Amino acid sequence: MRAMLMILAASGTLAFGQKVEEIYGNYCSGCHGAKFEGGQGGSLVDGIWKHGGTDAEIFKSIAKGNPPLGMTPWEGTLTNEQIRSMVVYLREQERKAAVQGMQFPKPSPDTVTKTELQSYKIETVVASGLEIPWAIAFLPDGRKLVTERPGRLRILDKDGKLQPEPVKNTPEVIHHGQGGLMEVALHPDYEKNGWVYLGFADGTVEKVEGKKDQAKVITSVVRGRIKDGTWTDQEWIYRADPKFRSGAGVHFGTRFIFDKGYIYFVVGERGGMMEAQDVTRPNGKIFRLHDDGRVPEDNPFVKNKDAIPGIWSYGHRNPQGLAMDPRDGALYNTEHGPRGGDELNLVQPGKNYGWPVITYGMNYNGTPITGITEKEGMEQPVIYWVPSIAASGLDFYTGEKFPKWKNDLFAGGLAAQEVRRLRLEGKKVVSQEIVLKGIGRVRDVAEGPDGFIYVLLNGPDSIVRMVPAN
Ligand code: HEC
Repeated sequence: MRAMLMILAASGTLAFGQKVEEIYGNYCSGCHGAKFEGGQGGSLVDGIWKHGGTDAEIFKSIAKGNPPLGMTPWEGTLTNEQIRSMVVYLREQERKAAVQGMQFPKPSPDTVTKTELQSYKIETVVASGLEIPWAIAFLPDGRKLVTERPGRLRILDKDGKLQPEPVKNTPEVIHHGQGGLMEVALHPDYEKNGWVYLGFADGTVEKVEGKKDQAKVITSVVRGRIKDGTWTDQEWIYRADPKFRSGAGVHFGTRFIFDKGYIYFVVGERGGMMEAQDVTRPNGKIFRLHDDGRVPEDNPFVKNKDAIPGIWSYGHRNPQGLAMDPRDGALYNTEHGPRGGDELNLVQPGKNYGWPVITYGMNYNGTPITGITEKEGMEQPVIYWVPSIAASGLDFYTGEKFPKWKNDLFAGGLAAQEVRRLRLEGKKVVSQEIVLKGIGRVRDVAEGPDGFIYVLLNGPDSIVRMVPAN
C-alpha cells in the first residue's frame, strides 16, 4: 500500500497510454480481487451495485470513492478517460460472469428452441461450399443471391442448392482485410427493371518487389443486371475520388436500404477516426442518393461546396446494419464500436453521431479513446452495447410466420455469435432478447419473402434459417 501511494505521488496522474488491465491489476485488484470477486471492497461482477449500476453511477463511484468505507477517490489519479475505460472493463467482466451462469438458446436442427414469444427450429440452407458469405438477396422466383467476401456472387437455386458457378463478369473486387464483395440487394422494382446493386471494396493493388501487395481501396456501389449467369449493363452508383482510397484493411460499412426512389448506404470510417467528423471526406458517413446515383438536391450538405454532397449523416465508425421501420419509415443503423460501445442509432439527415469524439467504448488494447460519452451537437445512440456484440446485419421482421415478432428488429452479432430481438415502441427500445446464440459468427440476418429468418454465418461459413416450431 505504501509503495503504491509513493508511485502515485511521484507520477501524478497515470500515463494516458496505460492499459486498463494494468490499472486494475495495480490499483484495484488488491481490494476487489484478481478475479473481481471482492475482498476488502465488494465484488465488481455480481451485478449488485450498492451505489447504482448505470455507467454514470459506476463512473462516479470510482471517481469520488467513499473514503470513510475504504474506497479511494480515483479522480486526480486516473483521468476521466481512464475511469471511463475502467467502466467499460468492469462491464465486460460483469457480462462474462453473467454469461457463465446463463442458458442461451443454442439451436440445433433436431431441437425446438424456445424464446420469450416464439419457438423455432433451425434449418440448414447451405452447409458448405461458401466462403465468408456476407449478404443475401431474395429473387422473386425463389432463387437467392449471396455475396462471398473474396469477390464472388453466388446463386442458390429454388431448392436452396448452391450453384457451382458464380455469376460471371461481376466487378473487380479487392479482398483486403475486412473488405471485399459485401452487400447485395435488389431494386424494389426489380421485376420491372432487373437492377441488382452491389457494395464492395474498390481500388487498386500494386505489386511491390519483395513486399506484400499494396492495396488502396474504399467502398463503392454499382448496379447491373444478371443475364444468363453473367453480370451486364453495369452502372456506377457511387465511386469515391481515388484520393480517398487507403491501405487500411478495416471498416468498410456498406448495406443498402431503398426508399421512395432513394438508396441509403454506408461508407465505414476506414480506420480514419477523426475523418468521420469531416464532411469533405466520405469516411464514416451514411449516404443518400437517387437510386440511379444522382445527388438529391435536398441532401443536408449540398449547399456546403466543400462537402461531399451525397452525405446524409456523419460521425459513424463502422455501420454494418441498416434497416427501415415498416411502420413509420424511421431509418436505423447498427455500428461496430471499438472495444465496447456498439450502437443502435436513429439515422437523421445532417446529424453527427459523434465518433470518435464521444463513444461508450475504449481501444482494443485497453487504453482510453475519450472520457466523454455525450456532447452537445452530437447524437446519442438509441441503445449501446458494452461489451460489444460486434454488430452486423439488421432487419425488421414483417412476415406472418412469427406473428408475435411482427415489427421487431433483429440484430446480428459477429463476436457475440448471436441474434438479438429488439422491441421498439415509437423510437425507443423497450426490450431486448437473445434469440439465437453460439452456432457461429452472425454476419447477416434477413427476413425472406417466405417469412423465415435467414442467418448468414461466418465460421462455419453457412446459411441457416429459423422456422416456426411448437
Ligand atoms: C483500499 C481498498 C480499495 C481499493 C484500492 C479500491 N477499492 Fe473500490 N471499493 C472499496 C470499498 C471498501 C468499497 C465499498 C465502499 C462502500 O461500501 O461504499 C469500494 C467500492 C467500489 C465501487 C462501488 C461498488 C458498488 O457496489 O457500488 C466501485 C465501482 C469500485 N470500488 C471500483 C474500484 C476501482 C475501479 C478501483 C481501482 C481503480 C478500486 N475500486 C480500488 C475498496 C477499494
